[in-house]
Amino acid sequence: MFHVRKITLKNFRCYSDFSVEFSPDINIIIGNNAVGKTSLVEAIYCLGLGKSHKTSADADLVKIGENYAFVKAEFTDGDKKDEIVLSFVNGKKKLQHNQKTVGRLSEYVGFMNTVIFSSEDLNLIKGTPADRREFMDSSISQNNKDYLVALIRYRRFLKERNEMLRQTENGKALDEILFDSITEKLNIEATIIINERKRFLDTLNERLNRLNNEISEDKENGKIVYLPNREAGKLAEAFKERRMLDLTLRTTTVGPHRDDFIALINGKDASSFASQGQQRTISLAIKLALAEMCKECNPRLIVILDDVFSELDALRQNQILKLLDQKNQIFITTTSIDNLSESVINNSKVLNISKEEENER
Ligand SMILES: Nc1ncnc2c1ncn2[C@@H]1O[C@H](COP(=O)(O)OP(=O)(O)O)[C@@H](O)[C@H]1O
Ligand SMILES: [Mg+2]
Repeated sequence: MFHVRKITLKNFRCYSDFSVEFSPDINIIIGNNAVGKTSLVEAIYCLGLGKSHKTSADADLVKIGENYAFVKAEFTDGDKKDEIVLSFVNGKKKLQHNQKTVGRLSEYVGFMNTVIFSSEDLNLIKGTPADRREFMDSSISQNNKDYLVALIRYRRFLKERNEMLRQTENGKALDEILFDSITEKLNIEATIIINERKRFLDTLNERLNRLNNEISEDKENGKIVYLPNREAGKLAEAFKERRMLDLTLRTTTVGPHRDDFIALINGKDASSFASQGQQRTISLAIKLALAEMCKECNPRLIVILDDVFSELDALRQNQILKLLDQKNQIFITTTSIDNLSESVINNSKVLNISKEEENER
């Protein structure tokens, strides 16, 4: 079964020098607050998408005061072994797969999928549209190279278009031909992004209602509704209509960089109508649905439960552990083992983490 067997961290977050071997099944990582539990699972997550789920600034991952960091891991899948090294040296990021440098991230993604459950999942309901776009982008990119490529290109063209708009502030005349050509390229990538987001949320919805039903005592209907800023076919027209406004505001006011989605419980907007418990349930169901989808696309799935598992009741704990029946490696971080069921503990490798200076690791 696919799993990460061993990981080594050098100057990653709070770690100077750290190495640990994992179980292919459940790993429980125990430690007090701020000892580095989240940082350890963040390192694992980074090996999937080449970036953190917590920050977009790679510099945050390098231990304060150091100028380089790396995460090195050994993955096993039957007889097959893979070594992945993600390094940050003087602000430059490099990913190596079996000693070979990965040129484009799009060539690498799909190596494995990682689904991480954390307290920040509530942001799927209560957070900003940017939180929800990040969820769609990272989830779709894991299994869809075309999407990742379109996203990277879209961001580049959007930046170029906004730069042109900004330059008019200093009285610079707009190069209309160049501007229209960038807008056209933007529209091509936007169309891919909008269509794929729609497809992704449709597939997610097929599972979401069942899962939300299973884990909500009140048997609630849960659903996500995509709110594209503009439908794919209507965007070219919208760019034309908004041209004057974009020039006045000096930014691109339409496009999928302004997309959002809302979660509905029994037909009502979960962010304003649902209780905290219902919001937790639906955000958990969204992640469970994602894990199911990932598993179908790619059997190499690692599941991370960062400080959420012990807060769940037995029903929800078991729901999540069903993921293990499908043979996935699972990481559970917690400050205390007390709330974990005995059966979970008995089937797990327990790793105690303490502050580096105390431990001299
Ligand atoms: N780049 C960094 N350099 C040094 N320390 C860091 C860096 N990033 C985070 N930390 C610190 O690492 C510690 C561990 O954080 P975290 O992994 O979130 O702990 P836990 O999940 O165990 O509560 C925190 O005290 C945090 O401030
Ligand atoms: Mg933590």
